Amino acid sequence: MSDDASRLWGGRFEGSPAEAFDALNASLPVDQRLWREDIRGSRAHARMLGAQGIIPPDDAAAIDAGLAQVEAELAAGEFAFQPGDEDIHTAVERRLTEIAGDAGRRLHTGRSRNDQVITDTLLWLKGRGEAQAGALKDLAQAIIGQARANLDVVMPGYTHLQRAQPVRLAHHLLAYAWMLDRDHRRLLFAMESAGESPLGSGALAGSGFAIDRQATASELGFTGISPNSMDAVGSRDALVDYLAFAAQLGVHLSRLGAEFVWWSSDEAGFVELDDAYASGSSMLPQKKNPDAAELARAKAPRLAADLSGLLGALSGLPLAYNKDLQDDKHYLFDAADTIDLLLPAMTGMVATARFQADAMAAAAEQGFLAATDLADALVRQGWPFRRAHEAVGALVKTCADRGVGLADATTDDLAAAGLDGVEVPDLTAEASVEAKDVPGGTARARVVAQLDDIEQRVEAW
Ligand code: ARG
Repeated sequence: MSDDASRLWGGRFEGSPAEAFDALNASLPVDQRLWREDIRGSRAHARMLGAQGIIPPDDAAAIDAGLAQVEAELAAGEFAFQPGDEDIHTAVERRLTEIAGDAGRRLHTGRSRNDQVITDTLLWLKGRGEAQAGALKDLAQAIIGQARANLDVVMPGYTHLQRAQPVRLAHHLLAYAWMLDRDHRRLLFAMESAGESPLGSGALAGSGFAIDRQATASELGFTGISPNSMDAVGSRDALVDYLAFAAQLGVHLSRLGAEFVWWSSDEAGFVELDDAYASGSSMLPQKKNPDAAELARAKAPRLAADLSGLLGALSGLPLAYNKDLQDDKHYLFDAADTIDLLLPAMTGMVATARFQADAMAAAAEQGFLAATDLADALVRQGWPFRRAHEAVGALVKTCADRGVGLADATTDDLAAAGLDGVEVPDLTAEASVEAKDVPGGTARARVVAQLDDIEQRVEAW
């Protein structure tokens, strides 16, 4: 093969890689997006080599200038990748050497692609994580904004998708803000996991040169250095932590998506999506489909698969570096890209949604949502809860058989259920939500307190 000369590891080889092997082995199509981090890491490494007197200062300067040129070429889309460029690390070093000659050939002193690749990946992860924390905040604030605007909208709360008890729409929406608060903590944890610099771990055993690991770590914005070279090059824990965050966030967004699909259905009619976050049908002129919400629903298993894919690749892997680890970026990038697509779309969908307060209120007043409130009232009148539950159940059955809701129960219905003479309380949805005056409950003052709390927390993210 003609590209042998440009390979970085060709010395001990006589034969060339087969095309089929090369196609499997090369990771450039996936990892070329790490070019900024790769160049940042290499510049820090070269500067440190120069400062430590491991390479001549002139060579360190030539590497720095050469890498600046490589960076400019990549940024301008003018970088010419060659067939022998196995991955982004190889490509950058090959081009640097074309530019800087032997100085370029000194860059890899005291370093391996094994510590290089995980350094690049952690830098990438930290950068992307920071941006996603901002996007997460936007979504949480959109949810909080809608909760505040709809504080007095009452709707049916469901269990088993059966109307259970009335709740405030704000209360329902805020459940998602709390989920995002936990997701945010998981994201911070993943970024903390990415905080130790692996650079200087070499292939697996460290370096025989007097390198200054702390210097490269500080220059690259790491909080410290990894304490064990084998762990550093063999571990992908920070990626697993990130993927766990992404998978859990995916589940939360899929549930939020599912709510909006259902709420926007003709059957529920609880929300009208803005045109900007819905799509039409190519055949059915009347359709306005909640595609963003549906896609949020569908992405969760993909994010879970990314997590389980990486866990699978890591399981049973002996230390230290194995090529299996090259697949890590496939999962990481897929998950990060998916989250990048989801968060702004969900934010826009939530922020622009128009909730149909009348339809929600009507649904909350119909049927039997106040059944528990009636049972609770009986308990206050001295009934044991179990007896109250049974009697109200009988009343529900009588009313249901007659095709009326609890609000239309007659004295005869009450008598038939053994409830004659009881004092029937206010069974409106408003009275029901106000009755839940406990921390975490649906009473207005409790929801306001919750809203203030989560708003402050999110503000501080
Ligand atoms: N492309 C490789 C990866 O992504 C870089 C490390 C290669 N190291 C090696 N010993 N082959 O993991």
